[in-house]
Amino acid sequence: MPVAFSSLGMFSRRTNWDRQRNRLAELLEARREEGRPVYDLTLANPTELGIEYPAGELLSALSNPQALRYQPDPKGLLSGREAVCQYYREKGIRVDPSRIFLTAGTSEAYSLIFKLLCNAGESVVVPKPSYPLLDYLAQVSDVNLGRYHLHYDHEWHLNVDHESAKGAKAIVVVNPHNPTGAFLKRREHRDIVRIAQENRLALIADEVFIDYPLVEDDRRFGSTAGDAEALTFTLNGLSKLAGLPQMKLGWIVLAGPPSLVTEAMERLEILCDTFLSVNSPVQLALPELMRTAGRVRSQILQRVKSNCETLRKATLDSPCSVLNVEGGWYAILRVPQIRSDEEWAIQLLEQTGVYLFPGYFFDFVGHKYLVVSLLPDEQTFTYSVHSLVSIIEQSR
Ligand SMILES: Cc1ncc(COP(=O)(O)O)c(C=O)c1O
Repeated sequence: MPVAFSSLGMFSRRTNWDRQRNRLAELLEARREEGRPVYDLTLANPTELGIEYPAGELLSALSNPQALRYQPDPKGLLSGREAVCQYYREKGIRVDPSRIFLTAGTSEAYSLIFKLLCNAGESVVVPKPSYPLLDYLAQVSDVNLGRYHLHYDHEWHLNVDHESAKGAKAIVVVNPHNPTGAFLKRREHRDIVRIAQENRLALIADEVFIDYPLVEDDRRFGSTAGDAEALTFTLNGLSKLAGLPQMKLGWIVLAGPPSLVTEAMERLEILCDTFLSVNSPVQLALPELMRTAGRVRSQILQRVKSNCETLRKATLDSPCSVLNVEGGWYAILRVPQIRSDEEWAIQLLEQTGVYLFPGYFFDFVGHKYLVVSLLPDEQTFTYSVHSLVSIIEQSR
């Protein structure tokens, strides 16, 4: 007879997640099983959305014979780090390769920095709303999250105050922010650095969408990679920059007061040496992958701009409005509060097959926002947006 084992006490509290699927996820699965069409406005995987990649160049870069040798370096191979320096040089920022650590994606970079800075139970402050990955990354490092708020009045404003930063070890800035697309402005950066200095906090700047501006704005701060004021960790990677999430390659650039940077580098080196997680073929390919990145990025940017314009036009004179999008891959819709965000999402899926994110998924307050990816192909996007607007109009 099979013995029934109880999992009680067997697993860590840290992984005790609520794995129950919500109603929206169940409906989506049922619809797919029945073979009914789904117009998915949550898709943000550029490799599946009709973007043309320079396949020959990418594959030949990945078959460098040097990859047959193992030459571990906790910071990553110098040739790869120099390619990252070149990326910043083109932005007018000088970065020394010794201050760069290659990682297996930006998510891993976060996790390394949390371990570097925080004891179990200590906290970092992150924006609210925010993309949900940060919650998981913090939990698996036993780090608590404090929140600072983004406010919207025709544009997004970032509001980190002493109260929200008190007792924390670091402030996370997502520049531009996911999903609002708001870029960090010079004034906001000045305030954050002051708070970081006064409270002895580090700054973690996630810049994965920084090369996706939808409009120009001379108030923007730009990249923090060359900053000298607070201890700063700037994160980016191939996932968004080159539209290559499958390569699993990101990086951390350290900047700030020299004594803190040296101490951080020495500790980070041991942390990275413990895992040596970035594979050699992708490190060796990095210079070429960075060279081809612009061609992929310009297609993605074109797609994002075109879909954003479609969304703006479709919602003109309608009961829903699009919040100002400065950059990134997402747009936020404000919908009438006659139903909650989840109820709208369910109704749209049931009646039209359009699948999108209810705002609560990103921790928006007020249940009046829906979030859409601007990456789906233009035809699907146009059809979906018109269906969405007509359902909302009919429901008034
Ligand atoms: C703002 C932001 N940062 C980091 C990541 C993680 O990127 P990576 O694929 O490099 O781990 C994501 C993923 O969507 C993201 O949206």
